[in-house]
Amino acid sequence: MMVKPDGVRRGLVGQIVSRLENKGLTLAAMRMMVIDPELASAHYREHRDKGFYGELIQFITSGPVVAMVWEGREAPSVVRLLMGATDPAKAEPGTIRGDLALDLSQNVVHGSDSQESAEREIALYFPSRDR
Ligand code: RTP
Ligand code: MG
Repeated sequence: MMVKPDGVRRGLVGQIVSRLENKGLTLAAMRMMVIDPELASAHYREHRDKGFYGELIQFITSGPVVAMVWEGREAPSVVRLLMGATDPAKAEPGTIRGDLALDLSQNVVHGSDSQESAEREIALYFPSRDR
């Protein structure tokens, strides 16, 4: 999962990490970085034909992010439950987006949507990690 540039700018990294730790997930890797356009397009290739793609790439490269690897039982789906719906206006209170965001682009966090995308994204963001 990742804290997006808005979450880093707003100083939300600590409480997002706390929420996942409190749930019982284990932080296995963490990296603060500015995403370059090449990495952004590799990450979001599934969205390249969507109308919001330009805005998405612009935003995700707009400042530092914190990329993380979390481990635990059913980690990808548990993380997405804690994140809440993609559109923060529809995200349940108690979730990260439900409590901390309102804007659809600036929705604070990204989470891999399956074990397969988690592995693909970990390879992009942690290329030297043992697999
Ligand atoms: P993410 O990839 O960031 O974890 O979010 P997600 O799976 O919940 O949503 P996804 O469909 O993968 O979309 C990626 C990001 O694109 C932005 N978005 N904008 N303007 C729009 O209609 C629109 N739809 C999606 C969101 O910031 C979303 O997180
Ligand atoms: Mg997604």
